[in-house]
Amino acid sequence: MPLLAQRLAIISFVVTGLFVTAPAQTAGGPQPLLALESVSGSEPLRDGIQIQAGPAVMRITALRNDIVRVRVSPNSVLPEDASWAVLPEARTKSIDIQTSQDASSVGFRTSALDVRVEREPLRIVIRDLEGNVISADAVGRPTKFQAGGFSVFKQMPGAEHYFGLGDKTGQFDRREQAYTLWNTDIGPQESVDPLYKAIPFFLAINGTRSYGIFLDNTWRTWFDFGKQARDAYAFGAEGGPLDYYFIYGPTPKQVVEAYAYLTGKPPLPPLWALGFQQSRYSYTPESKVREIATRLRNDRIPSDVIYLDIDYQDRNRPFTVDAKTFPNFPGLVADLRKQHFHLVNITDLHIAHAPNQGYMPYDTGHAGDHFVKKADGSEFVGIVWPGPAVFPDFTRAQTREWWGGLYQGFVKDGVAGFWNDMNEPSVFDGPAKTMPLDNVHRIEEPGFATRTAMHSEIHNIVGLENARATYEGLLKLRPDERPFVLTRATYAGGQRYGFTWTGDNFATWNHLRLATQMVLNLGLSGISFVGADVGGFNGTPSSDLLTRWVELAAFSPFYRDHSNKDTLPHELWVNGPEQETIRRRYVETRYRLLPYIYSLADESSRSGLPMMRPIFLEYPEIFAPSPPSFEHWDTEFLLGRSLMIAPQPFGETVDDYVVSFPPGSWFDFWTGERVASSPSAPSSGDIASAKPGTKFPEPRKVHPKLDTMPVYVRGGSVLPMQPLIQNTEETPRGPLELRVYPGADCRGMIYLDDGHTLAYQHGQYLRQNLSCDADAKAVRLKFHARDGSYAPWWKFVEVVVYDWPSAHAEAKVSGSTYPLKTTYDPKQHALHVTLSDQSGEAELSIRGKTAP
Ligand code: GLC
Repeated sequence: MPLLAQRLAIISFVVTGLFVTAPAQTAGGPQPLLALESVSGSEPLRDGIQIQAGPAVMRITALRNDIVRVRVSPNSVLPEDASWAVLPEARTKSIDIQTSQDASSVGFRTSALDVRVEREPLRIVIRDLEGNVISADAVGRPTKFQAGGFSVFKQMPGAEHYFGLGDKTGQFDRREQAYTLWNTDIGPQESVDPLYKAIPFFLAINGTRSYGIFLDNTWRTWFDFGKQARDAYAFGAEGGPLDYYFIYGPTPKQVVEAYAYLTGKPPLPPLWALGFQQSRYSYTPESKVREIATRLRNDRIPSDVIYLDIDYQDRNRPFTVDAKTFPNFPGLVADLRKQHFHLVNITDLHIAHAPNQGYMPYDTGHAGDHFVKKADGSEFVGIVWPGPAVFPDFTRAQTREWWGGLYQGFVKDGVAGFWNDMNEPSVFDGPAKTMPLDNVHRIEEPGFATRTAMHSEIHNIVGLENARATYEGLLKLRPDERPFVLTRATYAGGQRYGFTWTGDNFATWNHLRLATQMVLNLGLSGISFVGADVGGFNGTPSSDLLTRWVELAAFSPFYRDHSNKDTLPHELWVNGPEQETIRRRYVETRYRLLPYIYSLADESSRSGLPMMRPIFLEYPEIFAPSPPSFEHWDTEFLLGRSLMIAPQPFGETVDDYVVSFPPGSWFDFWTGERVASSPSAPSSGDIASAKPGTKFPEPRKVHPKLDTMPVYVRGGSVLPMQPLIQNTEETPRGPLELRVYPGADCRGMIYLDDGHTLAYQHGQYLRQNLSCDADAKAVRLKFHARDGSYAPWWKFVEVVVYDWPSAHAEAKVSGSTYPLKTTYDPKQHALHVTLSDQSGEAELSIRGKTAP
């Protein structure tokens, strides 16, 4: 080949690169690679650019100013434009761009980004409009296709941090870690990977700039954040399309919101799903369920939900009830309803392979040809809880519809919600505990070409489509009721169908720590409504561990105590009245905070932001110096913007520990005391890099006390709370409490509706913004005009102003000349004022009076 031609060679066939990627799908000797080394042609598009790189084609389009989609094919045909995760309305929308090109690159600009493809070597480089590189393909590591799969390599700046990817354990920051995304039924022991969920989306934060990448590929995918190379991270798949979305911030919140724009927001859950939930594998017989319900009520542990795990079923067959142990199932459901409990039944996807036995789910499923097939065309049978079982083919719309219909009986009985477990899918006798990869699914789905697909393509979306089938089925059966679905496995976009949890954790202190990090990373991966089994599923927790877990999980979105069969029961009372009293207080706090928590759920459902947030989601500036200027940023967290929870970094230790505070002022939630105002305490990194003689404020240290979970309130918050109730169906008695913590950007929000129907979608809700400002002598609380037509349960509002110096105060509400009565709590430095409910715009002003 002449030299020039060699230099212009657009592809090179080389032997396996030095960079070791994920295990290849097929064994055998080295495979030739197709590496995209240079641009051989380009064509501008209205919304982007199409690049030719030898036989390969790459299309880069701008969906929005801040979202760029990259699709690459090793041949001239782009992969099918279809997705299980990305909403069609987001995927099919794009914007006009401004093309740009010069001698070394071709590309385009949006009003936020400059996207260029450097010609030789071929590299995608994305900058902001000031010219800062946000993301770039790694130098010397071209995108590669091999053996049906591909690898993409990006530069990894030294100070970039990575989050997301769903429920992974290991360390909170994904940097220097590598992961496989392949839904797997395995307890999340500390360093086990892969786990139950495949969410191929990550968030990258580098100083003041953040972006995200979502690889929309349902096959086994992998991500390596510099584990194999120091200056590059990589991702890829064993098969399927190379189709990824680059999402620009610059703030991490904007990235998470834009990811939700693509993959959907979580629907507003029923209020009861945010209450305390009691579960065990398994409460049986019926009398045991009644005993648990009665004990919860007698012990006055506020609670809303009881679960039935697999043993309520006849021989573990989904959609049956064991008539011997549950002789009057509808009666049980009705009695629990009288006690204001909602029942959630497990309904696993595996249908017992029980032909000619009068088992309706098998008979109708078989007749409708709804089950996954083996490569030879016969029904696939694998062993799970019921013994031999078959598996619905959820990628067929009609199969999902059939599945949804199976809930009819339970819905008629009044079962409130459903739990879809084992849907990785778990197959006890299958290869790697799942189905053979060559099992055959059928894609019969609007928006997709109708075709068959191997299990290797469908595996990661079985959980997603299972939960979807349940969710949509329930909506059909109860059109005005919000469905509650809890799923273990899912894929990107799973937030659209409800709740998930982190699977079979262990009763260890490290799992308590991991619970926080897993829930936070799931939240950054779009899944807001999530929690970990309180107390740990496997093993029996020590009494202190269970107490700590009950305390911490009170501030997580999904609050469920659950445990495995061969453990000692761990309901809240099992360790005696002293521990129970502490635990009860935290469950009570949860119920007192429900107006705040429910308002966060409303916010989540409209923005896609998680309820439980890492500190940096609200305060990205903690990453501006690297390492972050915040001790314990991986264990402290926020619930919404206003509450910060600071558990012991290692719960088993008894040492005092540092609590770091984000900038601004902070108050102790329990005592009302002002505990911090900026600048916050320095981290060890700040201290190490400071000039000699620098004076730092003393860090605040906390002495761990079993009965206290440190919780702080952001100065600049209006925190809505309510009188204690025992379940979410009880109407609180007394005023709505609005706690005002003065500080910058002071605000809050209150959301309310009937808690369970869809009437809120037709205006039957109440949403009200509140804002406040304060100086040394006065506080003004502004009630903004209310949205929606729902009438609240409260007639009065009790405003509590913290950091108020004395009893001498005069309070007036706008439009009235009469001063309101105030009382003062000197211990909490809090002034209390009660006024009638303010539905319209109004201002409460409180000013200090000189002592008479
Ligand atoms: C799985 C679930 C667990 C459940 C058990 C029995 O291990 O993760 O929560 O209790 O199956 O259904």
